[in-house]
Amino acid sequence: MKRKHSLVLVPLVASAMFLSACGSDDSGNDSGGDSGGDSGSSEAQGKIGVILPDTESSVRWESADRPALEAAFDEAGVEYEIQNAEGDAEKMTQIADTMIGNGVTVLAIVNLDSESGAAIQEKATSQGVSTIDYDRLTLGGDAEYYVSFDNTVVGELQGQGLADCLGDKDANIVYLNGSPTDNNATLFAEGAHSVLDEMSNYKVVGEQAVPDWDNEEAATIFQQLYTAADGKVDGVLAANDGLGGAAISILEGAGQAGKVPVTGQDATVEGLQNVLAGTQCMTVYKSATQEAEALADVAIALANGEEAETTGTTVDSSDDSEVPSILLTPQAITKDNVGDVIDDGGQKAEDVCAGDFAKLCEEAGIG
Ligand code: BGC
Repeated sequence: MKRKHSLVLVPLVASAMFLSACGSDDSGNDSGGDSGGDSGSSEAQGKIGVILPDTESSVRWESADRPALEAAFDEAGVEYEIQNAEGDAEKMTQIADTMIGNGVTVLAIVNLDSESGAAIQEKATSQGVSTIDYDRLTLGGDAEYYVSFDNTVVGELQGQGLADCLGDKDANIVYLNGSPTDNNATLFAEGAHSVLDEMSNYKVVGEQAVPDWDNEEAATIFQQLYTAADGKVDGVLAANDGLGGAAISILEGAGQAGKVPVTGQDATVEGLQNVLAGTQCMTVYKSATQEAEALADVAIALANGEEAETTGTTVDSSDDSEVPSILLTPQAITKDNVGDVIDDGGQKAEDVCAGDFAKLCEEAGIG
């Protein structure tokens, strides 16, 4: 019963794109923004519900995604409700039930694991509510669309970033992967391996997934991997800034912070500060504004009973079904281009350059 629409949808999507390319309706989904006089085409009906996963696996969900989603929905003039499941799959299920009871017609979730996400989507679908996967694909789920970044490319950027920091020397690498229940974490690790495994001077001396992306547990896991490798670790492929920060804290204790390059993701304030300080070699910037606007476009199309524009399809590895998708392009950030994140509105200079970081920002030409 899953995604029974997918085969039919591809030609429909193609024709929808053709129609909109002919200028029949809809003002398109990119850069949009300009305040122009007219109110745009989005007289969205219905109501959109979004459930974010937690506040701990990354600060992004509350500090970047929520405000970006609010701005995108406000701009579109659509009714919406955004809640956070606080890392509790049961809570996410309850929130979904309440939202459906409150008349939500489109439900977007960032699942905490595919099983609970698929159950939420199945129930929603059975009640006539359309579902969207936001950021994380729900394996075996019902989502009609998937809105995210190209997560394999995120991993490739991390792998290449670490290689650029390590150079040609022989190096022992430890991988701190994201949650085993997050399909993105699988893609990040695959992407990173596809780059680093090609380089015969690098050796993997430890690799572990961090349950729920828990930063504290990440520090414990990294400490164990570091000890098991006798401290002979030359580089750390950490899947996001939180896990990177955990590795850096252990390296600090060992007097190795800044000597051992560590990767990250999300361009958080702390991640960017670590990049400026030289304890983190890179992060990956994924504009929350872009992702939220893409979600708003898709959600509004669904609410209006229209097809959404997509960039392609994503294969659900659990059943080989194809999910119409919008996959955005992530950007690698090193010391040289931290300013890009600030220029793009991804972070504020006053936050990144607070206190002791003012000097580093000045040196990097930021502020
Ligand atoms: C997201 C990352 C985030 C991680 C932890 C992933 O699914 O793509 O941006 O850091 O979850 O929340």
